[in-house]
Parts: sequence; structure tokens; C-alpha cells
Amino acid sequence: MRQIINFNDNWTFLKPGETAEPVTLPHTWNAIDGQDGGNDYWRGTSIYEKHFARPELKEGERCFIEFGGAAMTADVILNGKHLAHHEGGYSAFRAELTDALEEENLLVVSVDNSANDRVYPQMADFTFYGGLYRDVKLILVPETHFELLKDGTPGIKVTPTVHLKDREAYVMVETWQTGGAEVWIEIPTERVKEFRRVEAYGGHAVTNIILKNVHLWDGLEDPYLYTVTAKLVKNGEVVDEISTRFGCREFRIDPEKGFFLNGRSYPLRGVSRHQDLKSKGSALTYEDHKADMAIVRELGANTLRLAHYQHAQAFYDLCDENGIIVWAEIPYITKHMSGGKQNALNQMRELITQCYNHPSVVCWGLSNEITASGAVTEKLLQDHRELNELCHEMDSTRPTVMAHAFMLEKDSPLIPIADIASYNLYFGWYLGELEQNEQFFDEYHAMYPDRVIGFSEYGADANTAFHSSRPEKGDYTEEYQCVYHEHILKLIEERPWLWATHVWNLFDFAADGRDEGGKKGENQKGLVEFDHKTRKDAFYLYKAAWSKEPFVHLCGKRYVDRAEDTTEIKVYSNCESVTLYADGRELETKSGKTVFTFSVPISGEHRIEAVSGENRDESIVRRADAPNPAYLFRKQSVINWFDTADYDPSCYSIKDTMGALSQNPRTAAILGRMMERMTASRGDVAKGANSNANLQKMMAGLSLESLIKQAGDSVPGEMIRSLNAALQQIKK
Ligand code: GCU
Repeated sequence: MRQIINFNDNWTFLKPGETAEPVTLPHTWNAIDGQDGGNDYWRGTSIYEKHFARPELKEGERCFIEFGGAAMTADVILNGKHLAHHEGGYSAFRAELTDALEEENLLVVSVDNSANDRVYPQMADFTFYGGLYRDVKLILVPETHFELLKDGTPGIKVTPTVHLKDREAYVMVETWQTGGAEVWIEIPTERVKEFRRVEAYGGHAVTNIILKNVHLWDGLEDPYLYTVTAKLVKNGEVVDEISTRFGCREFRIDPEKGFFLNGRSYPLRGVSRHQDLKSKGSALTYEDHKADMAIVRELGANTLRLAHYQHAQAFYDLCDENGIIVWAEIPYITKHMSGGKQNALNQMRELITQCYNHPSVVCWGLSNEITASGAVTEKLLQDHRELNELCHEMDSTRPTVMAHAFMLEKDSPLIPIADIASYNLYFGWYLGELEQNEQFFDEYHAMYPDRVIGFSEYGADANTAFHSSRPEKGDYTEEYQCVYHEHILKLIEERPWLWATHVWNLFDFAADGRDEGGKKGENQKGLVEFDHKTRKDAFYLYKAAWSKEPFVHLCGKRYVDRAEDTTEIKVYSNCESVTLYADGRELETKSGKTVFTFSVPISGEHRIEAVSGENRDESIVRRADAPNPAYLFRKQSVINWFDTADYDPSCYSIKDTMGALSQNPRTAAILGRMMERMTASRGDVAKGANSNANLQKMMAGLSLESLIKQAGDSVPGEMIRSLNAALQQIKK
């Protein structure tokens, strides 16, 4: 029988130029410098070493090591013998140690996250943490055992096909092994134990089992899991045993009606998640994964996009157990690399091999915003075709998908390569206005009524320190994030054909290249802060829309001082009516759905309470004489000074469009310098996107003033003044 030994303890970590330190896995060397901004986190090769005594191996037994993830490339060396090289920081892999084992052993794992031009990702809006940041295990197996090496396989593949009408599932079970003539397959059900003796040929065994009266894996309501066990038999004796859970579910996706689970409409509404956490980086423990899942459940989301790479197996398990529908993807992102095809294919092969049995997973994401920093070339199309074919060869049960950048034309030949599509749109945050989101989707849906389309990313950054009664795009207030999401929630609710929607992002996350909204190194589009604890107000908007757990949430608890006589008090709730009290006095009861807004006169300090049945929440607001400067991200109103300033319309100014300004070589040069500075604050991806031709086309119609407005403090007032003065020197 196999034995699995946790191998996380007693490692020594050696980073060049630093003294060796003892570490326990999971570990990343970028937990701090990958989150503090400056785009200067250390990327290079470090060494993990471990001394260990020879594990007790019985006659013929073999010893393997399993890495849950080694970012980004790894070499495994035991007692001086090089045993494995692995490229790709997010998939698991194994190596066999047996023949290199001695009585006392030195295991050296050299891990490298430095930049290169073949292993994805190389350009993206998140920190590429380096390290052995997932579990490491030793696996001791008999000489004849289920396969361990090929693409990190679990050795067993389960393909259930559900016939809803007959309430049956045909379950195909396959195993791969190094020898043995027979495999025993068992699936205990609620009534009987299904059992098959299967003859194996060429190291492969396959059988079909019909589950009558099948208990479906039915999303949030009933995520029922079966377990299948495979026993490998040699000379009449069971020598190895593995098992996996699986779920029986049927889904289909309709271009007009959206997602169906087990025959009923089941609109996929949820969020995206990165695997990282403040001060820990990517090195999460099982407890951290569980805590993340608890927040997903609290929110009431029924789907997760596990972006932008393969997550820990433990997390897909949690999705299975909790009935969460998953979009899984590889980090083929932002920038197509001419030498990256093989690596993209390898990462996809490993993702599918390792995640195939999870009922939660419903699609394979080929790429994300792959046109963000370059054109759609034949080479890029070809790499996508090959990836798409690979997915279909390996899995005939799940569609492929891509997440497209907003500037990708709707008729691009890239879109129909995958089975279904989704767009990442940020109108109302980066470029453009909120309404452009619905315009975009309505146009797409009218153009291609037979194509499935979804909303794979949308969001607005918010720092919970910043507040305003007149929230606007680019102010980083918690209140603008609410305005933004209220708009999009309505858009989504009115468009049931959006097959899946995913807020970007459930949590703030590390993007070391960013410096905006009062924080360095963080993307702050999360509904929850980077501590994975502090919920922003917008979190409760979605909770009100999705969760069945009754609650009331008073918004603006961090917005205490208000320089106005009457203030807006907003309540998010999934109850039908909400009553508001001020200082114990009943003010008003409102009926409605999700968002309840009240106008409340304020004079001193007031205790506000929102009540619906058993559910209540309270906050404090205070009448202030002047706006509290701590709430302001923009310390000055950049635009207002200009509205009142005189300017000569016969000369160029910031009122002109980007298109007009780029026509004149002198204004174009000024513009170029300014754009460089503006985009620098948003990290590498923004810098790459700047050279995108489609983006330039879309921006040509926008006035420079509107762009500055959205850049907020990254373009200081003084700079705008001198910029405008310089433009005013140039005659039209
Ligand atoms: C992109 C991208 C994300 C990124 C996000 C953002 O479109 O896919 O990885 O973090 O937008 O700009 O916040």
C-alpha cells in the first residue's frame, strides 16, 4: 500500500547574498517585497535544501516526491543527481527519488522566478511570487503502482455522463498503472457498493458503471460527491490503492438563456480569486484556503473564476464540497510570447490532467487579455487553436473559453476559436463611462445572437480610507465602488444571457508594479481588503443580491464626518423592507430590493440604526464643518481649477481630444511624456497596453481632460497647469 508523508518541515532556504534560514513550507521569498510597491521584488534563483534519512522502503518499493507548486521553474537534485526540471509555477509535479536515495540524503531544489521569454506569465497585473509555496509530500509506493509521473496525474480519471430523464449516470473510470493485470473499481452509493474487476491492457484500465437513481452534484444546494476507489491487483494481491471524489452533474450553456445546471436555469454570478494574502504572499495554508471559501459562501456567489493560473488542489476540493462552479485557466496572459507555445500547452495539459475529476470545474480558460499589449497575429491565433484542440482532445465534456480585453474588436478572429467567450470590461473605471458596459454587450449580443458571451472581469478600486458624498470615477472611495457595482449589478440582472459574471476581484491582491489610490503594490478592486477580513461596502451589495441569509448592512460606517446638513444613508439588504432610526427615533421604512436609500438631516453626532425583523446594523455619523481631509484621495480638485481658468480656444489645450493632440508633432510629444507618467502608476500591464493600436483608436475620441480626471492624483494639479500652459503655446 502506498504511504504519503508530509515533507513540509525542516528545509533550509538560501537566497543569493543572504544567510541561510530554516523554513517550513509553504514558503515564498516575495511575501514582503512582492507587496510593497516599486515593481522591484526580487526575481532570481534560490535554493531549498533538506537533509533526510532514507525512508524505509520494503522490497521493490519506490519513492516519489510531489511538489504542489514551485514558482516558476524548478530543478530537483538528490545527492548530486539531477532528477527533474519543471517549468510552470502553478501546477503540481512529481519526481522519482528511489535510485538516488542513500542512507543520509541531501535534497536540493533550485527554484527560479526570474524573467524569461518562454514560461508564462511574464507580464501581468499581479506579483509573480517565487518559492516552494505549496505542500511537498513523499509518496512511497510498491513497485507496481498507479501512475504518478505523467503531468502530475492522480492516476485515475472519472467521466460521468448524466441522463437527467432517467436519473442515471454513466460513469467511465480509467486508471493508469505501471503493471498489474487487474484493477478493482469500487463506488459506494447510498444503497449499494458498485464493484468491477477490470482487466488492464498496456498499463490502462477502463470500465463503465451505471449509477441508477443518481444523486446529483447540484451546485450550492446539494454538492453531493461520490468517491471511487481503485485497487491495483498483482498475483491476486492488492498492491496499490487510490481514490478520488467526483460529482454527477449536467450543464449546458445557451446563448440566449445562459447557464443551466442539471436542467434548470442557474445563472453563474460570482467573483474572481487570486491565491495570495497580505504578508504571506502565495504561501497559503489549508486554513487560509478554508477562510477564503467561507467568505465566498458568506457572499452567496455560486461561481469563482480561479485567476490567472492553476490554484492549489485543496481549493478545487473546497469548490467541489461547496458547490461552487469554477472557471479554471492557465497564465497565458497579457503578452503573447513567440517562444511560449510549448509552455502554454504543457501548463494546459497539467491543468486538465490534475483538475479533470473536479465536478466544480466547467471550463478551461485558454488565455486572458492576450491582446492587451500586442496585435492579433497569425502566430497568436495558431497557438490558441492548438491549445483549444488540446483541451478538446483531453476533455470532451467541458467547453473552452477566453477572457478578452475590452479593446479586442467584437469581430476578431480570435473570439470564435474557443467554444464560448467572455469580456473583461472596465468602462466606468479606466476608460469611458459606466453606460458603455451595457452598450458593449448589447451590441455584441445583437451582432452574434448565437454566441455565448459572459462578463469575466469588471471592478473599481476602493481604499476604505477614502470617502465622499459625491463619489466619482477615479476617486478611490468606497462610495464610488458602490456606485459602480450598483450599476453593473443592474446591467447583469437585466441580461440573463450573460452566461457567467465575475467581479474583479473578491480580494485586494498584490501587484507590486502598482502605486495608486493611496497604496503601493496593491490592486484594490477587491470587495474585501488584502487582509481577507475587512469587507468593503460593495461586498454587501452582492451579498444582498445573492445570499439567502437575511441581513441588513449600513453602508458608510467608515465615513463618519460629513460636511452637509442632509446626508444619504444607504442600506444593502436582502430583506423586503428596512426601517431606519436616528438616535432611537424611527425615521422611515422603505420597501424594495437590495439597495435602500434614505436622506437623513444631521446636526451633531447621531446613532443610525437599520432594522428589518431580527436583523439590524448600526453606525455613527457626525455633522462636520468642513470635509475631513483624511477621506480625500485627491487633495485638490484637479478639474475644477481648469473649468474656471481662461484659455485660448485657437490654441491646443487639455479640452482637445487625444486624437487631435496626437496629430500635431509638438502636442504629440507633450502627450507622450504625460502618458508615460500616468500609466507608470498602474504597473507593467498599463505600460504594455499603451502601445496597443485598438486602445489608441478608442482613446482618440476622449478629451485629455477626461483622461486626467480619471488618473486622479497620479497627475498632480501643478503638472496639469504646466501641461495646459505648454499646449496653449501651440497654435491649431
Ligand atoms: C485586467 C486583468 C487583471 C487585472 C485587471 C485590473 O484586465 O485581466 O489581471 O488585474 O484587469 O486592471 O485590475
